[in-house]
Amino acid sequence: MVKKYVFGTPFPTGAVTAPIPPEAGAPEIGAVSAGEGFEFRYQMAPEEVVFGLGEANRGINKRGYLYVSSCADDPNHTEEKVSLYGAHNFIVVFGGARAFALFVDYPGVTAFDICYTKYDELKITCGRADLELYVLTGGAAYELVREFRGIIGRSYIPPKFAFGYGQSRWGYKCASDIRRVVEGHRENRVPLDMVYLDIDYMQDYKDFTVNEERFPDFPAFVREMREQHIHLVPIIDAGVKVEKGYPVYDEGVEKGYFCTREDGSVFEGAVWPGWSHFPDMLDREARAWFGDQYKFLLDQGIDAFWNDMNEPAVFYSREQEAEARAAMLGYLDGDVELFGVGTLLASQANSQKVRESFYHNVGGERVRHDRVHNLYGYGMTRAAGEAFERLAPDRRILLFSRSSYIGMHRYGGIWTGDNKSWWSHLLLNLKMMPSLNMCGFLYCGADLGGFGADTSRDLLLRWLALGVFTPLMRNHSALGTREQEVYQFERVEDFAAVIRVRYRLLPYIYSEFMKAALGDDLYFKPLCFVWPEDRRAVEVEDQLVIGNEVMIAPVYTQNASGRYVYLPEEMMFVKFRADGSIFTEVLPAGHHYVDVALTEVPLFIRKGRAIPVAEPCMNVEELDPSTIRMLGWEGAPYERYDDDGVSRI
Ligand code: GLC
Repeated sequence: MVKKYVFGTPFPTGAVTAPIPPEAGAPEIGAVSAGEGFEFRYQMAPEEVVFGLGEANRGINKRGYLYVSSCADDPNHTEEKVSLYGAHNFIVVFGGARAFALFVDYPGVTAFDICYTKYDELKITCGRADLELYVLTGGAAYELVREFRGIIGRSYIPPKFAFGYGQSRWGYKCASDIRRVVEGHRENRVPLDMVYLDIDYMQDYKDFTVNEERFPDFPAFVREMREQHIHLVPIIDAGVKVEKGYPVYDEGVEKGYFCTREDGSVFEGAVWPGWSHFPDMLDREARAWFGDQYKFLLDQGIDAFWNDMNEPAVFYSREQEAEARAAMLGYLDGDVELFGVGTLLASQANSQKVRESFYHNVGGERVRHDRVHNLYGYGMTRAAGEAFERLAPDRRILLFSRSSYIGMHRYGGIWTGDNKSWWSHLLLNLKMMPSLNMCGFLYCGADLGGFGADTSRDLLLRWLALGVFTPLMRNHSALGTREQEVYQFERVEDFAAVIRVRYRLLPYIYSEFMKAALGDDLYFKPLCFVWPEDRRAVEVEDQLVIGNEVMIAPVYTQNASGRYVYLPEEMMFVKFRADGSIFTEVLPAGHHYVDVALTEVPLFIRKGRAIPVAEPCMNVEELDPSTIRMLGWEGAPYERYDDDGVSRI
């Protein structure tokens, strides 16, 4: 059962699509106080656990720490961080007398203090008491999550090619760089479906432009790639370069489509293109206009995009620049310590002061950005998604974003931003997936191998073996880091073997993804959603269930030759081996140590189930359904979903 409580004057976020009439009075769970700010408190029993919050730091069980929904461009996801790129204000509390779930539909800063300040108290706070609070009760945790998914509308469905392997790197500059990447994969028999175009494909980092020196005939290049079954995926950034004569800038200024300062002048912040304006993603007209710009690339044969820097990232504003200038002059005059200048510069990104300094136009009313901050990336991706419905009504376009809010899950997927080549981030990737699914984000994944810092051969192999199962399977790395394409490493055939498993499992992965999307269900489930009576299962955070048949337990430790795994029931342990053979062994319920070589991809098939497995292929289009065989328990039924992978459904 879902109940909606309305406080003050909520900003309409569009997160919930189901019509739910508001309740009178206060929720029967917890204590609410709504004055200048909003507070929800709930006394936690020792055995209660908290799942949810989508793209957040730390464990699947969020108890014991603080999480602040405040979309941030922060590339250092260290353990103490409380805000990442997304704001997903949904939690489910269970394990005690009765389960309940909450969705705090509030687009400003929202803090979830989950037994952090007080060891037994869950406290949710919002700066203003203008919000909708949804309270879900009357079922087990998994049921409540599904009920929530039912009220926020169906998750975004990408084209089938988006389930192939993608190669990306910040630093590919021109057509020949991209050709080399494709050849590197082909020569080594590594399957590949997508190559990503990071900011260098643009002219001076201007959205909806292509650098003509680097790509002299872009449409022909897109065609050449398509003939090789490669989809190019260009990046689109939120900030629009300030440059007279650049049509997107000129038109945006002329029509008043950019965010403004308090005095009505157009707000300026520095991002990759230098000084930039920020399209008003909350203004319906501006959104339609920005969405229409994607046509420039659609018309040249592009059918896939990633939306970036949309928290929005602002390295510094004009006002901050002036402040920095004054501090530097102060240093030269001997009035300011160099340390003070450094501290000032370091504090410029993600500044609350900047967020308070610009405005949106929402139906003629001016709304200060900080009040709706968490909706910006959602608005940008919505702009693109709505435009694709108009511009490409018959086919699916791949779209995913860095920043997001619940509601955006209907328009695109997400990637989890600038992680690092750390073993701990491989594990974080695994833990985020079910939480994201609970919040509606099904098409998601992390930068495999790690974005920042230098990766290592073993880390990349183990990370790819997890990536085999994430709907978005993309290897991406930052400018200046060690080259991370799999053919840069010794024994590239080991990497090819792991990536080929993705293609062998595609019939299953696509089928389970689609069933989850069409049925408002989870693709990745925590173990305790499947075995709710098993008290041990609730604590297993490094294994997940996919669909209804498979459990995964990736290896995430350096130099490990395998790992411990917990089986809530008898299961078939399966390893896809580098030589193409498949190892199987039935293991009884309980704890086991399983050996997993660096070149092997392990999974477990639940008792009495089976999954479809195909012969490997070099891209999604070449997958031959006639090679599909069932793997698992003899004669077990499996209903495989399939479609043309392109038509909208
Ligand atoms: C941001 C993105 C990253 C991208 C870089 C350059 O850091 O998160 O993926 O490579 O910008 O565009």
